[in-house]
Amino acid sequence: VNENLRNVPAYAHALARRGEQNSRHAIATPALVCDLALLQENIERMALETRAAGVALRPHVKSHKSTFIVTRQIAAGASGISCAKIGEAEAIIRNLGDDDLDGPLSVLLTSPFVGHQSAQRVAALAAHCHVITVVDHVDGVDELERAACEANVVIEVLCDVDVGLHRTGVPGPDEAVEVARRIDNAPHLRFGGVQGYAGHLQHVVGREHRRAAVIAATQQLRDVIDAIEASGFDVTLRTGGGTGTSSLDIEVGVLNELQPGSYVFMDRQYRDALGDDREGRYHQSLTLLTTVISSNHDGFVTVDAGWKAMATDAGVPSVLGHDAATFAFFGDEHGRVTNGDGPAFQRGERLELLPPHCDTTIDRYEVIWLVHDDVVVDVIEVVARGRSQ
Ligand SMILES: Cc1ncc(COP(=O)(O)O)c(C=O)c1O
Repeated sequence: VNENLRNVPAYAHALARRGEQNSRHAIATPALVCDLALLQENIERMALETRAAGVALRPHVKSHKSTFIVTRQIAAGASGISCAKIGEAEAIIRNLGDDDLDGPLSVLLTSPFVGHQSAQRVAALAAHCHVITVVDHVDGVDELERAACEANVVIEVLCDVDVGLHRTGVPGPDEAVEVARRIDNAPHLRFGGVQGYAGHLQHVVGREHRRAAVIAATQQLRDVIDAIEASGFDVTLRTGGGTGTSSLDIEVGVLNELQPGSYVFMDRQYRDALGDDREGRYHQSLTLLTTVISSNHDGFVTVDAGWKAMATDAGVPSVLGHDAATFAFFGDEHGRVTNGDGPAFQRGERLELLPPHCDTTIDRYEVIWLVHDDVVVDVIEVVARGRSQ
């Protein structure tokens, strides 16, 4: 634990009681709490599933933003990490300890970027790790080549392919071939393959629906791969996929690398979408601890977690262990909780919420408390939080 954290009064009690029975109750709320054993099981399960299928695993850091979890993912066999933003990768690289990994880290930047400054930062990263980046436009290739040339590095580049999300990616085979050719002509760039991320399919309800959608999206990627190969280029790396489609991506068999993120924690949104499906069987390892701070009304209490305590892009959290309980936002700092027909919650009572969406919630917290039952085992820093640039 670094000095900055030790000096935060809100963390002091729980930090001082690490390893003691009941130390979980010393965590000041609202706080993110992660069950270490469940986290580790999730990490190992995805590693096992991909390894058994002969598919590489490059977990997405955007979900946890923590070097502690990166280290465990690599130890479990991940071939590298994925980062959504350059800033995320910079923070992870800067905060990894010298002894955290056996060899150099391989980092895939999964979003295209624009402009010389960004390209310079990517080239600078290449001095500290193996960088792979994506582009979806020939101008992006030119920007990257200029920066790589100035820094005298060689960067591996993938063509990002739109497989239906319409967020980024070349729209089709012709543009993909143009991008691959431009990369191949750039002396400081090496064409590595393609990325096709079907973000719009991760939460499709019903495994058969999801399978049909994955097959259709993958066909788009396959068409692009065929066109690039027909033009004489090897499409060595075929990366994409997320938690919700992970085992379907393996089954369909075009991707040879998966980049899931949420599987380490899961969240209410994934629980609702995936239920007991194979992809839904990762543990809910992350919860949001909150305290009842006022109970002066019949029928509801007020807790200390509101809009600021969690991301709300995926609706409301559920209250763990209380099926009939409801949560409603009660302002920036507060939530309104009922307990259905159950006994009223009491002032001072602690409740555990299942965050609606893990990635966007994590980004609001400086630390995550690692627990085993009622014992605080450790605290980890969300080193890349806010690093969206
Ligand atoms: C490009 C990319 N790859 C992988 C993921 C991981 O998805 P998930 O968290 O659903 O596993 C994301 C998440 O948004 C993403 O944007």
